Amino acid sequence: MDDIPGEVLRGVPYGNLKNPPDLRCHKRATFVFSPPMDEQKQIVMSGIRPTGYLHLGSYLGAIRNYVRMQEQYQCFFMVADLHSLTTHPDTSQLKSNVHRVLAENIACGLDPDKVALYCQSHVRQTSELYLYLNMLAYKGELEKTATFKEKVRLSPDNVNAGLLTYPVLQAADILLHRALYVPVGKDQEQHLEMARNFAKRFNHRYGEVFPEPVAFNFSEDLVKVPSLDGLGKMSKSENQMATLYLADEDDMIFKKIKKAPTDQGPTVPNSPRHPYIENLFQLMKLVSSPETYQRFETDYNECTIRYGDLKKQLTADMIAFIGPIREKAKAIMEDETYLKSVMEKGAQKAIQSAEATMKLTRKAIGLEYY
Ligand code: TRP
Repeated sequence: MDDIPGEVLRGVPYGNLKNPPDLRCHKRATFVFSPPMDEQKQIVMSGIRPTGYLHLGSYLGAIRNYVRMQEQYQCFFMVADLHSLTTHPDTSQLKSNVHRVLAENIACGLDPDKVALYCQSHVRQTSELYLYLNMLAYKGELEKTATFKEKVRLSPDNVNAGLLTYPVLQAADILLHRALYVPVGKDQEQHLEMARNFAKRFNHRYGEVFPEPVAFNFSEDLVKVPSLDGLGKMSKSENQMATLYLADEDDMIFKKIKKAPTDQGPTVPNSPRHPYIENLFQLMKLVSSPETYQRFETDYNECTIRYGDLKKQLTADMIAFIGPIREKAKAIMEDETYLKSVMEKGAQKAIQSAEATMKLTRKAIGLEYY
């Protein structure tokens, strides 16, 4: 697939993702790199926290893009279970959350044979690299991180050191595979910038081991999925009645769309749309056919629209969209043997790549005594 309209957001050393340079080369020829698993492909890495249900926004904003990337890149997609411990010390739901995240991602089209789909805790090298990187991360910069400050504000009683060093662990995830591209949302850009700083510091201090990873963003394909109440985006944990989850049953989808607020309807042709109404149109654009969308747009502009009809159509199209993903995810979740094999296969690929990096890392640091 060479139609991915990818764009490197930061540190733009090159604009064209189709022929990016191989940043695995090193300034000081001290180390011999083991060949990557697939010489042709650039390395992509991203993580998904196993907290909360995936929703329509996670699918259209992120997972759908991962699915497209798996054809063109060597992808490492990981369930960030260790990261979740920083904010979710209660692990009673962890296993089912991890299973669900895996199942939902596979149901959306991620292919465990094409990518390394694995759990962070299964790759112990992550913890080792995290430890080394902690020596290159300064307290001041960690305290300044926006996500840290936000978490302190939200949970002042649980300001643990893991929370402070969350970006270091994330950098370890990425650098462990010497990944170049990291598909993430805007909220993660500061973490990526930190990962680049840690990589630079390491390379400067010990010799070139890590390429500097950059955020990978799908410019025109970056869809915002509005919530049903006209207030912001769909969310993993907030405004649950205004968010359509991939696990929602048909009657729940029906109920949520029915509850979505509407206005009196337009009285003047071609009037602007109220945010509530605009959201319903946006959702329709995402899941309905262009003809359907066009028809309702015309009805709106001619003041003949009936919101009941629009909601009915949107509900039907949404059910046709979410239903098959939900059912597939459900079937996968029930098949623990399959999930185990996915995790084992994923871990095997990730560990192979991680261990190659760690050999270089230990050697570069000087942790080699015989
Ligand atoms: N911090 C990311 C989030 O909150 C999840 C994550 C963990 C991640 N490790 C990563 C993302 C590595 C990209 C790369 O969504």
